[in-house]
Amino acid sequence: MQDNQQSYGLVTRVFHWGMAVLVFWQLLKFGDDIADGEHWVAKTLVPYHGSIGLVLMALVILRLLWVFTQRNVRRQQTSAGIMAKLGHYALYLLLVLVPLSAICLMLGRGFGLKAFGYQLVERGSTKSELLAALGSWHATLATLLAIMILGHIGFALWHHFVKRDGSMKKVW
Ligand code: HEM
Ligand code: HEM
Repeated sequence: MQDNQQSYGLVTRVFHWGMAVLVFWQLLKFGDDIADGEHWVAKTLVPYHGSIGLVLMALVILRLLWVFTQRNVRRQQTSAGIMAKLGHYALYLLLVLVPLSAICLMLGRGFGLKAFGYQLVERGSTKSELLAALGSWHATLATLLAIMILGHIGFALWHHFVKRDGSMKKVW
């Protein structure tokens, strides 16, 4: 269950791969730009964007609490380890800011909040120019997250195939 000096434990792995799948699903929202969203991906997977995004918001909070409990059992003292750590912190920051900005966008524009058919916040009840302005960062932050993830995958593959230091085994 717990992480150790050599590898991540089951909980961290489930968080990692579960959230990775959901984040890739979320990035399909870029597909709205293709054929004005008139294709099967946009019609079948993308309509869950708000719901899955709210699930991710909850998951990232739980994951950060988990990471905090594991901070003393993980080992990363080398300079490369510190860079990796900074990269992971940046990913976490974006994983919080991306859904948070979306919530600001939905509330600020008075759209309310809905998850899997349940109305969590009524439409029109929370209109605010400030929230709408904060929310207008959502697409930019999501693009930044997508770039960071591409970099993260690139580094992971480089460690696995070029450096062959077994870092993929830590999380797989
Ligand atoms: C980790 C969670 C999330 C990710 C990775 C994500 C990702 C994205 C991406 C890639 C886009 C397309 C940007 C573009 O076309 O340039 C987008 C747009 C959008 N997302 Fe999210 N999103 C997340 C959470 C949410 C949540 C929780 C909501 C609503 C409650 C939401 C509502 C929207 C809306 C309304 C748009 C269209 C915004 C616009 O066109 O300005 N997203 N998101
Ligand atoms: C094909 C996709 C992916 C691959 C191959 C991959 C690979 C890895 C590897 C090898 C590590 C261990 C690095 C180390 O500590 O030495 C790791 C950790 C990590 N990855 Fe990924 N990753 C992928 C997708 C993602 C995505 C989409 C996210 C963001 C949602 C993400 C976020 C993280 C974070 C935050 C860590 C640090 C461990 C933790 O605190 O949970 N990864 N990844």
